[in-house]
Amino acid sequence: MVSPDIRVFPPAQLTAAGAAVLAAAIEELVASRGWCRIALAGGSTPKPIYERMVGMSVPWTKVELFFGDERLVGPGDPASNYAMVKRSLIDHIDIPSRNVHRIRGELPADEAARAYAELLGNASLDIALLGMGDDGHTASLFPETADMDATDLVSVTHSPMPPYERVSLGLRTLNRAGTVYLLVAGAAKAVRLAEVRVQIASGAPVLPAARLQPETGRLIWLIDSDAAGADISATTKTMKNLR
Ligand code: 6PG
Repeated sequence: MVSPDIRVFPPAQLTAAGAAVLAAAIEELVASRGWCRIALAGGSTPKPIYERMVGMSVPWTKVELFFGDERLVGPGDPASNYAMVKRSLIDHIDIPSRNVHRIRGELPADEAARAYAELLGNASLDIALLGMGDDGHTASLFPETADMDATDLVSVTHSPMPPYERVSLGLRTLNRAGTVYLLVAGAAKAVRLAEVRVQIASGAPVLPAARLQPETGRLIWLIDSDAAGADISATTKTMKNLR
């Protein structure tokens, strides 16, 4: 089992810390080999991170941008992950449009999944930024569904809440990433996150977030102290020793 490197921040600092960690990781990859491939998450937690990254020095022209999951809606729909990332980040940075690879939620799900798997190809992602729902889902891989066991690079999945139809990177793709960052905030997720930790520690990961187990890469949790709860304060790292 890969134990997460858990980095806990005061709630008011998670956005700044997340943006700093991601920007530094991108910069390091680009400096060492000229480009990097990242997948971004939907959801409310990363949005302020994307907004914050707009003002930072990040070599965006060298970044290939993918998405961890998408809802089966068009690219302008308020529920679209692409629309959220576009508004908060893409519209404000210097990234060539050919480097932005969205999941085509306007297509029938299986076609969108097939097209995305082709686009992704066999090269692994350098960075996968993911969130966790309070049921333990990550990307659009939901607990107790057959979807999450699919070994496809990209799968059609089903959410228990609308929009129901999703397309998600599969565990196979996520676990081949160079670094998987799991971003979690808020007391409402503390119990589930503790459960994820216990499942990993016991060697029996069941929840999708617990099954983020990079094959050779790193697993880093970026979480706030509310989501961490009291029990893992011993592992707290502050922004000072972030890297
Ligand atoms: C999505 C996601 C999903 C998300 C979690 C956490 O499309 O909604 O990619 O996996 O990351 O549900 O979302 P919050 O950050 O809003 O809690």
